[in-house]
Amino acid sequence: MTEVVREVRDARRIFREIRAQGHSLGLVPTMGALHSGHLSLIERARAENASVAVSIFVNPTQYDDPADLESYPRTFEEDLAKCEAAGVNIMLWPDSHEIYPDDYRFRVTESEFSERLEGAHRRGHFDGVMTVVLKLLNIVRPDRAYFGEKDWQQFVLVRDMAEAFFLDTEIVPCPLVREEDGLAMSSRNANLTAEERRIAPRFHEILFGGGTTDEIRERLAEAEFDVDYVERRNDRVLAAVRLGKVRLIDNVRE
Ligand code: PAJ
Repeated sequence: MTEVVREVRDARRIFREIRAQGHSLGLVPTMGALHSGHLSLIERARAENASVAVSIFVNPTQYDDPADLESYPRTFEEDLAKCEAAGVNIMLWPDSHEIYPDDYRFRVTESEFSERLEGAHRRGHFDGVMTVVLKLLNIVRPDRAYFGEKDWQQFVLVRDMAEAFFLDTEIVPCPLVREEDGLAMSSRNANLTAEERRIAPRFHEILFGGGTTDEIRERLAEAEFDVDYVERRNDRVLAAVRLGKVRLIDNVRE
């Protein structure tokens, strides 16, 4: 049985009890609309911990576009059924005022990498992400927390934040999960029209095709994507595009 917890005060008590029993605890932070990408993180957490918590919270502070926040799919009943089937012990499903009793007066800011790539196109996005993740980690105090490489920049920033603030939680990266046709799984894919969904797989195909970042940009534009960025970082090519009203991100290892 998955226990649904809505209040931070209850959550802290429950997680304190789990830790007191000496059980290892894994946390998978999500915004819901769970798909196989999320489930791969949950499976990994199950394999590595005695207890697994999943948080579902569509975090308003990481959105600079109210329309994007508004249109984010909310599918609680389905999410709960998936968590039950995946053997999740606790689902933390708080309201915004539970997470932000301070009205976002206090926040975590990083001053270099968070301003690049996604951060350059989504004002304040990573302040919102890092702040909510720090709050969740402090509520749950898990041994491990799981993040997908789909959001590679997010994983790197969270990992570095955990190190900078001496958090006890290990931040575990998990591989990017794709649809059968290779499109990176994302809750936002549900907002693509049939025609856009047909075009969308060209995105990763072009990234896997290699070439200079300028060449990749050009190919993406030819395929009717509006390109936000294409950049090489470490051993990866990272990119974000817009297709109609939907923004897609992807990255491939070279
Ligand atoms: P969300 O987009 O729901 O993603 C939750 C976790 O699932 C993230 O770590 C994300 O990288 C991972 N994930 C999503 N799609 C994936 C895929 N196709 N393959 C592998 N992993 C995938 O990312 C967030 O929520 C939020 O920013 C959050 C961290 C919860 C903070 O609000």
